[in-house]
Amino acid sequence: MNILKPFTKEPAFVNREDELAYLETWISARPENILFLYGPKSSGKTTLIYRFIDRNLSKGGYDIKHFNLRELLLVNYESFLQAFFEIKEREQVKEARQYDLKVFKLGVETLKGLESRELDPFVVMKKELEKSNKKGIRPVIIIDELQALDEIYFNGGRELANEMVNFFVAMTKESHLCHVIIASSDGYFIERIYQDSKLKKTSEFMEVEYLHQTDVMDWLNNLDRYSKIDRFVLNNCQSEAIWNFFGGSCWEISNFLGNLLNIAKDGRILDDEFNGLLEKKLIFFRSMFVEYATIEPEKEQLLFKIAGLISDHPAKGFTFNELRSLVEDDVWSISALRTELNRLVRKNFLSYAPPRAEYALQGRSMELGLDAYVKMIGDGKGRMSNI
Ligand SMILES: Nc1ncnc2c1ncn2[C@@H]1O[C@H](COP(=O)(O)OP(=O)(O)OP(=O)(O)O)[C@@H](O)[C@H]1O
Ligand SMILES: [Mg+2]
Repeated sequence: MNILKPFTKEPAFVNREDELAYLETWISARPENILFLYGPKSSGKTTLIYRFIDRNLSKGGYDIKHFNLRELLLVNYESFLQAFFEIKEREQVKEARQYDLKVFKLGVETLKGLESRELDPFVVMKKELEKSNKKGIRPVIIIDELQALDEIYFNGGRELANEMVNFFVAMTKESHLCHVIIASSDGYFIERIYQDSKLKKTSEFMEVEYLHQTDVMDWLNNLDRYSKIDRFVLNNCQSEAIWNFFGGSCWEISNFLGNLLNIAKDGRILDDEFNGLLEKKLIFFRSMFVEYATIEPEKEQLLFKIAGLISDHPAKGFTFNELRSLVEDDVWSISALRTELNRLVRKNFLSYAPPRAEYALQGRSMELGLDAYVKMIGDGKGRMSNI
């Protein structure tokens, strides 16, 4: 008998039918390109991959090698070997396994050869992929959070992430030996790899965006069904307010629903308490910008510029070119501005969409936080019009 009480909230999974259908079509064709899944922070890339594996790949016929690099500490070539390769079961040494990953399984000698660097990991991988194909099984390599390989080098200073992507180009476009899916929320990293590794015309991009309004409303109106929340229901104004504040950012919505559990009374949430909680969130997002730009006028001007672009086109991206006045007015040099935007992507303020070369704020809540920051600084409007 299960003596544990059920959780008061479970992770939801809303819609994504279009994305799953796209993945299904893509996997049904013989491999000829790498599929890059990109999208803003916490848009649901990893969850989509798990659902796809569960729904489409787990029923046999596929040899899935799924590496979620966020779960691993990758600092050098040796840790990469540990993450991607292991000794076949029957020769397994008596060592507790830390991760249950579907990795490349090798004989002891091959693994030793890799460790001593006499063997090339990509040659070894290719052989394994050929073996699967010969057995009539289709290999699928899925790498989540590819940017974890950044700054790992091997044999003669070769950059691992770059070499790996080049290898995948050969395995897909040239040999058609396996399907490859790469996911990352660091669009800037993907862009760099894309530029460096002759990827043009050999890869396909799929954007995993935040959820649409109809999906969010469906979720919020059916909390019991999607999130197993039965302690409260939201009224229409509250659902609208959640959409207006968080847009379709699943993680933030889910987190806010968790916060609401603390203040639920008699199956409802009092409006005053609800609004108080949103107010605190707004201050939190505003303070992220305050912290970023304090006493650094060039950063402040960058934020004002971005706020201006966004107030013209809410929820839309902007290109590097649209920031040109910052360079013309000598606030930033071109290279420093590029580096700073890269930093803002890595710090999860901005997202970057490689196929459109567009930046955007990471979600509606960050847009509201920036707007509040600009208003707080006071002379925002006047300053913005000067830029
Ligand atoms: N379709 C969905 N419906 C509702 N909630 C979702 C959905 N997809 C993801 N989530 C929730 O959103 C959160 C973030 O999801 P996930 O980790 O998959 O995003 P991600 O894009 O991989 O994030 P990151 O950019 O950090 O890699 C998780 O808590 C997950 O349960
Ligand atoms: Mg992820």
